[in-house]
Amino acid sequence: MLSPAMIDRLNEQINLEIYSSHLYLQMSSWCAHKALEGSALFLGQHADEEMMHMRRLLGYLNETGALVIIKGMEAPPSDFNSLTEMFEKIYSHEQLVTSKINDLVHLANTEPDYSTLQFLQWYVAEQHQEEFLFKSVLDKIKLIGTEGQGLFFIDQEIAKLAANSTALETTTMNAGGAA
Ligand code: FEO
Repeated sequence: MLSPAMIDRLNEQINLEIYSSHLYLQMSSWCAHKALEGSALFLGQHADEEMMHMRRLLGYLNETGALVIIKGMEAPPSDFNSLTEMFEKIYSHEQLVTSKINDLVHLANTEPDYSTLQFLQWYVAEQHQEEFLFKSVLDKIKLIGTEGQGLFFIDQEIAKLAANSTALETTTMNAGGAA
């Protein structure tokens, strides 16, 4: 059984994961609009991943008998000055998500709520990977540059990340594991 404070905080996290999905879907559409097909594909896949993060939390709350509350939320930004600015925003957003997961871990540890503490370990590892992933995209953008054909080559590099993500999901599904 979860404390009311923990239920509230897990509900907040569910809504933040939904917002993350909306944000990346919107960004994916912006990229498609700018003919950045690789980035559009990559971000569309990432929007799906965020919904998977949400579903995992939702399943956990349902198992405890708590009620999940899906709230109304603000619209994500829909215009960006550049691909670089957009990925900088993503990196900051993921750092925010990490801080929220850390707050949840802190609450679980201090209550103490060992079941939730264990459940959250997956998110701790996932946030490490997410920050690493988006930092690596920003590093690629800095390395290649956006002048001339740079943007085209960056988009191709990001398309490879989308393909790797699809291959990983296929392997995981064939192995019968959860993503
Ligand atoms: Fe669900 Fe990208 O954090």
